Amino acid sequence: MATRLVHISDVHFGVENRAALAEIDRVIREEQPDALVCTGDITQRATHRQFADAERWFARFDIPIWLEPGNHDMPYGNLWERFTAPYDRYNALREAVAVPHFETQDLVLVPLKTTVRAQNRWPWSDGVVRPRALERTLSALHDLPDDGRVRIVTAHHPLHAPQEGEPSPTFRGNKAFARLAEAGMNAILTGHVHRPFHEVRRAGAYHADVIGAGTISTRLRHSAPGSYNFLTIKRAPAQGQPGTILVDTRTVSVATSE
Ligand SMILES: [Fe+2]
Repeated sequence: MATRLVHISDVHFGVENRAALAEIDRVIREEQPDALVCTGDITQRATHRQFADAERWFARFDIPIWLEPGNHDMPYGNLWERFTAPYDRYNALREAVAVPHFETQDLVLVPLKTTVRAQNRWPWSDGVVRPRALERTLSALHDLPDDGRVRIVTAHHPLHAPQEGEPSPTFRGNKAFARLAEAGMNAILTGHVHRPFHEVRRAGAYHADVIGAGTISTRLRHSAPGSYNFLTIKRAPAQGQPGTILVDTRTVSVATSE
């Protein structure tokens, strides 16, 4: 037995790729994974209509849904709301369709917030790991029993630069990665860059799998096609051995702008 997750990201409801959404829908019905994970940028401009479309789509599944907010999921037009209640619209979606906790015999998911309503550099869309957000995730990792299950952190922004050793576009990303790996994180699932990847990154004596999902929108970048990841995760067979994470990146049907 293993735990199977469909990992999607950057759906950008508003400019979503409907063919890709239909494909995910079919995969979930046919392959019956244990959960659907979406690592942020659920909407394009965080409008009520886009969140309503997202809610309709996620509500169709009878498996647990795990959501992270992305930089696109805070209001753009309404600056007052962006600054006073940036996550209200996202939180309403989360309450309607998502689970607050998810764990199986193989894994535990732990959230990490990397989005901010504003920052003292441009663009505001870049990731930031604020100390308080990092402490929350570290303490969740520390609270987990050492039982061989794979500890998976989920965030919107990758913590590292695409090239190893380069400064991360996510502020305090490299440092956060090192602390999280030291605290027992085995893998991190992210989105944002609209390009899939899977590597093992090291920080001192520790390492973790870094896994990015592509986009399920019509906003294609880096000439990467739309894609999603199908993950198969197995706990460690014995004390001191690693669990296993298989990543199957699947390209979705050619997106057409609407
Ligand atoms: Fe993003």
